[in-house]
Amino acid sequence: MGTSRDDSRDAGTATSPDTTPRTGRAITAVAGATGRVSRQVVADLLTGGPAGSTRGRPMDPSDLVFLSRTPERAVETLTDPEHGEPVPQASKCDIRVGDYTDPEGMRRALAGVDTFFMVSMTESAGRVDAHRAAVAAARDAGVRHIVYLSFVGAAEDAVFTHAREHHATEQALRAAAADSGPAFTILRDSFYTEVTGQFIVPDPWRDSGEAIAGPAADGRTGFVTTADVAACAAAVLRDPAAHRGARTRSPGRRR
Ligand SMILES: NC(=O)c1ccc[n+]([C@@H]2O[C@H](COP(=O)([O-])OP(=O)(O)OC[C@H]3O[C@@H](n4cnc5c(N)ncnc54)[C@H](OP(=O)(O)O)[C@@H]3O)[C@@H](O)[C@H]2O)c1
Repeated sequence: MGTSRDDSRDAGTATSPDTTPRTGRAITAVAGATGRVSRQVVADLLTGGPAGSTRGRPMDPSDLVFLSRTPERAVETLTDPEHGEPVPQASKCDIRVGDYTDPEGMRRALAGVDTFFMVSMTESAGRVDAHRAAVAAARDAGVRHIVYLSFVGAAEDAVFTHAREHHATEQALRAAAADSGPAFTILRDSFYTEVTGQFIVPDPWRDSGEAIAGPAADGRTGFVTTADVAACAAAVLRDPAAHRGARTRSPGRRR
């Protein structure tokens, strides 16, 4: 897996609460269970990871909650072979409605949750506000640790719009942690291999042919599979305290 810790731990985590389970059991919530990444995170957590990989300990289904705007579709996504290797254990998990645009609903959905995997929601005009509301809801619900799926190069002055949006969400996480809210871990993924096709466009410089167009600066990027992204997220979710305040980059190294 091409994942690296990209720099020192983030500031603003010193006053965050630790992630010691409150009841002896640590409850993990995974949002967006119908999505490509989150489906694989749930599968990885419940099975211990795909065969041939460095496998973790399978999580007890009673320790995993998954959230979706459409819970019935989430169960189908996880158990129907049409969507990938079925994960029958998923039907034993607590499934809750979770929509970042509904703060009150998110507070209910995150009740009793220790660690929250916050997948970034589908790109849309209100995404940053919805992400901020989800962080606030997690804090109000008493969540102890948020693992956020960000993007490589997230920065206030990034050229790529989505990288600026991820930076804004990261800032919300830092602000909450600095004010005794949840600790956090930021997963800064590169472009997904599976979306490469979306960047192939008619060549703008020639009369024919195609070009790969994207926010690539000097033209180089390291793509990552969503399976590796999910494996990285699952490893962090199994032991969030070990990754408190950390940012990871997948894969993000220039050769
Ligand atoms: N790095 C890259 O190249 C790249 C490429 C594409 C996307 N992304 C980002 O990475 C995320 C995960 O990628 P993916 O391929 O798994 O995307 P995906 O298959 O489209 O899944 C999108 C996820 O967002 C959830 N979602 C959408 N709106 C939501 C809302 N209002 N509240 C809560 N959850 C919401 C959906 O969950 P439910 O429908 O179950 O509620 C779903 O899990 C994307 O959402 C996007 O932000 C990154």
